[in-house]
Amino acid sequence: MSIKYTAKVIEHFKNPHNIGTIEHADACATEGSPACGDEITVYLKIDPATDRIEDVKFQSYGCASNIATGSIITDLAKGKTLDEAEAITWKQAADELGGLPPVKMHCSVLAVDGLRSAIRQYKKEHKGIDYDTTLDVKTVTDELRHVLWPPIGADIITLKLVKYVGIDQGAVTVEISINADEKYLDPTIEEIIEHVSKIRGVKSVNVENV
Ligand code: FES
Repeated sequence: MSIKYTAKVIEHFKNPHNIGTIEHADACATEGSPACGDEITVYLKIDPATDRIEDVKFQSYGCASNIATGSIITDLAKGKTLDEAEAITWKQAADELGGLPPVKMHCSVLAVDGLRSAIRQYKKEHKGIDYDTTLDVKTVTDELRHVLWPPIGADIITLKLVKYVGIDQGAVTVEISINADEKYLDPTIEEIIEHVSKIRGVKSVNVENV
């Protein structure tokens, strides 16, 4: 089955903007997608007087959608303040491209995570802002908003596929409710485990399909 892309996605995939590296970058971060194993690296040059992004470049080891969203989010981020650029969402990136096929939405999450992670690295190193969070149900739930259900292309919290989140001394339990025949079930469970494991203080993650 072939995937239908908009003309804008194809244009940004064929002629991506802001591709490459920045020498002596002020921040550089790599993010990987548990869903597909692909990666993106984002480089930033910041004007310290205004906190604006003077230059931003990316390298993608991902698919066409990831290259296209990397291209569009770097266009959107250039010239913005760190706070403005940090607020760019994967939905916004996908909308700017005229939409992405649902199974490809996670590629825009990866691009936005790469940009955010570079911004946060800069803020941490240059402004002393600590992004480390406490382990609680809200932190886990927020992280689960980065896990998309591929057939629909929306996150598993919004879709109410998560029924329960529990934490007991670093052991996290996530109960989901997904039709067991679904071919996306196992990759989604893996993705939940990878995302939740990133949170500071997590010792183990147990996902149950109830
Ligand atoms: Fe891996 Fe798109 S980034 S499939």
